[in-house]
Amino acid sequence: MAGIYIHIPFCKKLCHYCDFYHTIPASPDDVSGFTKAMLKEAELRTGYLPDEKIKTIYIGGGTPSLLSVRDLEYILDRLSSLYIIDSDPEITLELNPEDIDQDYLDDLKKSPVNRLSIGIQSWRDDDLKMMNRRHTASQAENALNRALNTGFTNISIDLIYGLPGMNTGIWEENLKKTFSFNIKHLSAYHLTIDPGTVFWKMKEKGLMTEISEEESTSEFALLAEKASLAGFVQYEISNFALDGYISIHNSNYWKQINYLGLGPSAHSFNGYSRQWNIADVGKYVNALNKGTVLFDIEELDNKKKFNEYIMTSLRTMWGINLEYIEQTFDKEGYDFVINISGKFREYGLMKLDKKTLVLTNQGKMISDNIISDFMMI
Ligand SMILES: C[S@@+](CC[C@H](N)C(=O)[O-])C[C@H]1O[C@@H](n2cnc3c(N)ncnc32)[C@H](O)[C@@H]1O
Ligand code: SF4
Repeated sequence: MAGIYIHIPFCKKLCHYCDFYHTIPASPDDVSGFTKAMLKEAELRTGYLPDEKIKTIYIGGGTPSLLSVRDLEYILDRLSSLYIIDSDPEITLELNPEDIDQDYLDDLKKSPVNRLSIGIQSWRDDDLKMMNRRHTASQAENALNRALNTGFTNISIDLIYGLPGMNTGIWEENLKKTFSFNIKHLSAYHLTIDPGTVFWKMKEKGLMTEISEEESTSEFALLAEKASLAGFVQYEISNFALDGYISIHNSNYWKQINYLGLGPSAHSFNGYSRQWNIADVGKYVNALNKGTVLFDIEELDNKKKFNEYIMTSLRTMWGINLEYIEQTFDKEGYDFVINISGKFREYGLMKLDKKTLVLTNQGKMISDNIISDFMMI
C-alpha cells in the first residue's frame, strides 16, 4: 500500500533554521493558483503508482494550515476520485500553532484529516524568538490544548533540540512539559544548520556557535530516556510513538514503500527510481498550466538501492533485515553487511537480533558515522 505526500510551499514568515522549500505568497491568488496546479499534477500522474491502494496521505510543507479547511477537503475529495484510497487511511496535516483557532479545528474535525502534526519546536519563548517562529510558547500550549479538546486523538508534535543556548536542564524542562500532554507521537530533531538559512549566515559571521558534541549527545540521551519513561517507543532516531501510534506514512518512507509526491520540491519513489519536482512554485505552476510536470529523476542501480536501504533502515528500530539483503543484493551484499557490522557489534554499537541488525542505544548516538561506513562506493 502506497502513500501520497503533498507539499504546500507557503509560509507567512521564514524560520531561521529552515531549509525546506518555502516562499511567502504575494497574494491569495498565489495559493489558489498553486492548488489548481497541484491537482492538475495529481491528475497527470495517476499512472505513477498503477493500481496501488493509497494507505496514507500526508499534507506537509511549508505551512499547510494556511489553506482553508474547505480547500483541504476539496484536495482530498479530488484525490479520492483519482486514486484508490484505502477505506481506513491515515491522513496527516501539519499545523503551525498560530493557525489553530477553534473554528478551524471544528471544521477540520469534520474533514477526513485524522492525524495532526503540530510544529511546537520549543516551549520557551527565547528559543522561539531566536528561531523566528510566528508563535509564542503560550500560543503553542493553547493550540495543543484546543486540538486535544476538539477530540483529535492522534496528535504528534515537533520539537527541535541542540539549539544554541540550550543545555540538558532546559531540554529536560521542554521534555517534561511535552510529556505532560496527551500526545501520541513526538518528532524531535537535532538542529541542523543548512547552507542558505539565516542560522548558516549567522554562523559564518561568528554570530552563532553550535553546541558541543558532548552536549548534543547528552541531549539525545535525555530525549531517549524521557521518551521511554513516558512509554514512547523510539521507532526511528527522531521519532517516538505510543503503542499503536507509529506514523504509517513516516515508516513507509523507511521501509522502501512507494509514494507519490505532489507539489514543488516533492519527492516520489516507485522502487526503481526517485524523482523530485522543481523547487520553484512559479515555474511549477506555469509548467502545469501547460500540462507538464517539471522534475529530475535518478534511476536506482543496485548500489544506490543498497545505500538507500542501509541509510533508512538503520535509523529505525526494525533495522537491517538480513534476509531482505540476501534476497535483493545476493551473497555479496550479505557478506558486506556482516563484515562491516563486525566491529560495531564488537563495540556494542550494533546487535544482531534474530535476522536483523539494529543499532544499540549507544550506536544511535553516532548513527551517521556508522551509516557512512556501510555505504558502497
Ligand atoms: C517541514 S517542517 C514544517 C512544519 C511546519 N511548517 C512548522 O513550521 O511547524 C517539519 C519539521 O522539521 C523540523 N525542522 C525543519 N528544519 C530543521 C532544522 N534545520 N533542524 C532541525 N529540525 C528542523 C521542524 O521541527 C519542523 O517542524
Ligand atoms: S519551519 Fe515551517 S513555518 Fe518555518 S519556514 Fe520551515 S516550513 Fe515554514
